Amino acid sequence: MERAAGVPLVFFLLCCSSLLASLNLSVAQTPIPAKYDGFVYGGGSLWKGLVIIEAFLDPMCPDSRDSWPSLKQTLKFYYPRVSLAVHPFALPYHSNSYASCRALHIANNLNASSAYPLLDLFFKYQEKYYNEPTYNKSRAFITDHFSKIAEKAVGRGSYSAIKSGFDDSKTDMATRISFKYGCSRGVMGTPYFFVNGIPLPDYGSALNFHEWNRIIDPLLTEKK
Ligand SMILES: *[C@@H]1O[C@H](CO)[C@@H](O)[C@H](O)[C@H]1NC(C)=O
Ligand SMILES: *[C@@H]1O[C@H](CO)[C@@H](O)[C@H](O)[C@H]1NC(C)=O
Repeated sequence: MERAAGVPLVFFLLCCSSLLASLNLSVAQTPIPAKYDGFVYGGGSLWKGLVIIEAFLDPMCPDSRDSWPSLKQTLKFYYPRVSLAVHPFALPYHSNSYASCRALHIANNLNASSAYPLLDLFFKYQEKYYNEPTYNKSRAFITDHFSKIAEKAVGRGSYSAIKSGFDDSKTDMATRISFKYGCSRGVMGTPYFFVNGIPLPDYGSALNFHEWNRIIDPLLTEKK
């Protein structure tokens, strides 16, 4: 009896799925990048570390900026036992965030060592590019300024290559993928940290060096 009842059920499910397919209700596929998203500290593979930190940061966000010195200090202390990937995450309420995240991708394409120095520069100058001081500024103005800032990180004479990077649809796609990746991980603000894939609580606030120690030390001890 049970087996007989199974057949109509399977038939019903098959009908449903082909109906859904014919209505094209399937979920759209986000483009899959050829390389895992993010800028890896020191280059190479993210998976080389014993403990892996992923940081979602917005170059125009003051909380991201404030979390950066202690995160860098932590990395310098533990590297290469701890590895870090920074994922640019453009918050929609910071007007120039998307352009700054795109500049990171452009810079990284031109010089693989330049993404971290450029992030430093964005944090240094970010106040000039907040919403209010740039209220009357055009996108062309922002692109020009960000290209000039990025030139300092990428290398002298790279200005025009950086500027034309803003017209390259591939850098737009890379920046979108960074954003979509953050969304897929449930990122709701910055800074937002994951350690070995697990989100840390209290996103949006900085962790000091000792707080990082308290998270990382037990993991390294366990690995021994
Ligand atoms: C933007 O421009 C308008 C018109 O020139 C001016 O009245 C306003 O004060 C400017 N706003 C800012 C934030 O600079
Ligand atoms: C690439 O960027 C790094 C970091 O800013 C810099 O030290 C290096 O000189 C750059 N390379 C070239 C070829 O300009």
